[in-house]
Amino acid sequence: MNHIHLKECESTQEYLINLQKDPSAKYLISTDSQVKGRGRRENLWDSDKNSLCFSFSLKPNKILTLSASEITILLCQFFSLYKNSNHQTKLKWPNDLINFENKKCGGVLINKIDDMLIVGIGLNLNPSKYPTYQIEAGSILKTHQEFQHKSLALEIVEYIHNNRISASEIYKKWKDFCFHLNTKVSILEEDKVTEGIFLNIGEFGQAIIQTQEKEVQIFNGSLRVHH
Ligand code: BTN
Repeated sequence: MNHIHLKECESTQEYLINLQKDPSAKYLISTDSQVKGRGRRENLWDSDKNSLCFSFSLKPNKILTLSASEITILLCQFFSLYKNSNHQTKLKWPNDLINFENKKCGGVLINKIDDMLIVGIGLNLNPSKYPTYQIEAGSILKTHQEFQHKSLALEIVEYIHNNRISASEIYKKWKDFCFHLNTKVSILEEDKVTEGIFLNIGEFGQAIIQTQEKEVQIFNGSLRVHH
């Protein structure tokens, strides 16, 4: 693995997208401080010294669109095994990590270049104030811990590389980690909102929603849980 750790950068995702010329090379770019982080759907990604930001190259899952589900499951597994974690991290469709207070504490951004994925992960490790972008931001850990940004990023990426999950296991594990199964949700796609009960993910990682009229499949969007 080619691991480059930067003191500061605009975005590890941009950095790796510009660097990944050799499609077979395995890279990890981590940083202590990311000043112009990118989120999904053209959002910004805010971070501070309590967050961990890194990007790495990864072969896609055999079913390309299941890659995000696979990576988020592996992150939940990593944190439930991790010695300092005192609770279970959960999943919110499609790419979010949710903490013990049901608040977002991490997100995954994926770009595809040729046959490789560039995976960007942002994790709010410790309690902190994230001003604007991560609405209702929470943190993975309840109390402050000291983290070595460089070694924790490498540990997570090695865990992901060494524990790849097949499609059939993803369907099962995703349900176990999801925090809004059989719950009322709304999903915003472009300018359309679908409201209904979240039943499951489908073969390609799409959300399966039972609306009042029918079962609907949604492939991309942003989900809100009704409480
Ligand atoms: C989301 O919108 O939930 C995904 C956020 C992904 C943020 C990470 S931080 C490391 C990498 N570099 C970026 O600019 N974005 C991703």
